[in-house]
Amino acid sequence: MQLGRTTLSKFLIEQLHEVDDNGQLAGLLVDVAAAMKSIAAMTAKGALGGFHGAIETTNVQGEVQKKLDVLSNDALIDACEWGGTLAGMISEENEDPIRIPSEFKRGRYLLNFDPLDGSSNIDVNVSVGTIFSVLLHDKDSEPTIDDFLQVGRRQVAAGYAIYGPATMLVLTVGKGTHAFTLDREIGNFILTHENLRIPVDTGEFAINTSNERFWEPPVSRYVEECKAGKTGIRGRDFNMRWIASMVADVHRILMRGGVFLYPRDTKDPKKPGRLRLLYEANPVSFIIEQAGGASSHGRGPILDLPAESPHQRVAVIFGSKNEVERIERYHAEFDSGVDQPYISPLFSNRSLYRSEAI
Ligand code: AHG
Ligand code: MN
Ligand code: MN
Repeated sequence: MQLGRTTLSKFLIEQLHEVDDNGQLAGLLVDVAAAMKSIAAMTAKGALGGFHGAIETTNVQGEVQKKLDVLSNDALIDACEWGGTLAGMISEENEDPIRIPSEFKRGRYLLNFDPLDGSSNIDVNVSVGTIFSVLLHDKDSEPTIDDFLQVGRRQVAAGYAIYGPATMLVLTVGKGTHAFTLDREIGNFILTHENLRIPVDTGEFAINTSNERFWEPPVSRYVEECKAGKTGIRGRDFNMRWIASMVADVHRILMRGGVFLYPRDTKDPKKPGRLRLLYEANPVSFIIEQAGGASSHGRGPILDLPAESPHQRVAVIFGSKNEVERIERYHAEFDSGVDQPYISPLFSNRSLYRSEAI
């Protein structure tokens, strides 16, 4: 082992020494990290591991489950249920909250997680991840659904692992956002990026433009202005990236700035957004805000949005602060009627499609 390196355990002891919980939070985060190492090992085997492909089931959201969705879910439950740190869990893959078996001691925290984010990318060997959120459950009773429905601002810890060329763990306990890289030879997460800061300005945006016809006007306005680049009101060219694996898009934004949008749209009126509040939007918003970025549902901070159900979906806009604030302003202008509906330059007076005869 190289001397002077900060391991995850050492880091947690230093960051959490004031928390009076008999080391429960630190213990829980070490258990989550252990599950992440197992998931990293499974994903790294690729097709050789026999883990690729779908199984014959769908989850509560009606999505086809991949083998690795289920195996990653099992890895997290298995690593975290026994340690006396948890009172319950909510997973993307389970309809109801997961109870702690009676043979184990119940602890004072709740864990919400997406065991494998971006799993539609598994078979094409694109980066995927695990996202988690920790809440306090300061009662002796078995948690009810209402106990899990806390506003994101009350999270005590949040993080994600990205299984990419390197496996990394990005973490906040409310004292900045920090990233660790897995040293596979010794099996430890090592602190490699202390106090990440997201640049307030950016020239990069991420959105699935195939949904464009379902967007609200303020989102179309923002994206069209980015695409117009130097020739439009922004006066500069923008670049676009979309990995379709939120952890990978978040990670890029943490490393070099950018803005990510999965806005509300009319594609499926039953779903106010694609991403889930408790185990995708809330933890990522906590991480982003702790790194100096902003996170909004277009009409206010995600972290202040009341939670109504375990698998609730929400519109998500996060990243470089000035861009997120601009997009929020476009929503406010649209809502108050100040904004004119967006008209593509192709259809304006000087349009390519408008002949002088019209
Ligand atoms: P999950 O694999 O946990 O269901 O989440 C997938 C999410 C997120 O990772 C990504 O940003 C988004 O879905 C991709 O959406 P599109 O399929 O519209 O690109
Ligand atoms: Mn996900
Ligand atoms: Mn998932």
